[in-house]
Amino acid sequence: MTAPVLSLSAVEKTFGIGDRAVRVLDAVDLDVAAGEFLMITGPSGSGKSTLLHLAALLDTPSGGRVRLLGEDMTSAGEDRLSQARASRLGMVFQRYALLGRRTAFENVMFRFRYTQHAVREARELSAEALARVHLSRAADREARLLSGGEMQRVAIARAIAARPAVLLADEPTGNLDADSARDVMDVFGELNAAGLSIVMVTHNLDLLGWSTRHRRLADGRFRDAA
Ligand SMILES: Nc1ncnc2c1ncn2[C@@H]1O[C@H](COP(=O)(O)OP(=O)(O)O)[C@@H](O)[C@H]1O
Ligand SMILES: [Mg+2]
Repeated sequence: MTAPVLSLSAVEKTFGIGDRAVRVLDAVDLDVAAGEFLMITGPSGSGKSTLLHLAALLDTPSGGRVRLLGEDMTSAGEDRLSQARASRLGMVFQRYALLGRRTAFENVMFRFRYTQHAVREARELSAEALARVHLSRAADREARLLSGGEMQRVAIARAIAARPAVLLADEPTGNLDADSARDVMDVFGELNAAGLSIVMVTHNLDLLGWSTRHRRLADGRFRDAA
């Protein structure tokens, strides 16, 4: 078996609220295999976003280890972390976080602000990413003029443009109507079929059919057999 793309071992997260400490994640173990589409479900407040933020290296665990492509990121310095975030990870959020007055293409190009790519290569990769989400025709349209589903697909293009090792998505269909949600899920399915590893967090059990594996989080722990 090949090494996991992403691995969390005994990960804990505790937030201090006033003088109270609240444990949001409690010794969570998770291995993400290359090429899988893992869906993590759980009720609101169960720790899904916290878990995904730790996996995305946007926050540090209170205990345990996060490994990306075999490398322990828990003790990595800020330079190494930004490099890993920029080139190895892609992140998609419920709110698309696009710049409304920039075109779809310009929004995708933002992915390359903190990478080493030459401008020409960045442009090629951005065009390719827009094609993969079926939005080449909208490349020159301002983001604010797109539908919600199109905006989320631009956000996905931005997330995959630098060819990350894993795509992390937090409730990516949470703001979308059923048709747009299906378009977005179809895109995830196509990307996964082409080999991209995906971890998606959702409370919508209707979406499980797109995944290759499912884990269930409740009160900061996985409530299933790994
Ligand atoms: N920065 C924070 N400070 C304090 N509590 C937090 C913070 N982030 C999340 N929490 C708490 O952690 C719990 C899990 O939150 P979250 O990971 O966002 O859950 P989910 O995404 O499953 O809805 C919630 O009770 C939330 O209030
Ligand atoms: Mg959440």
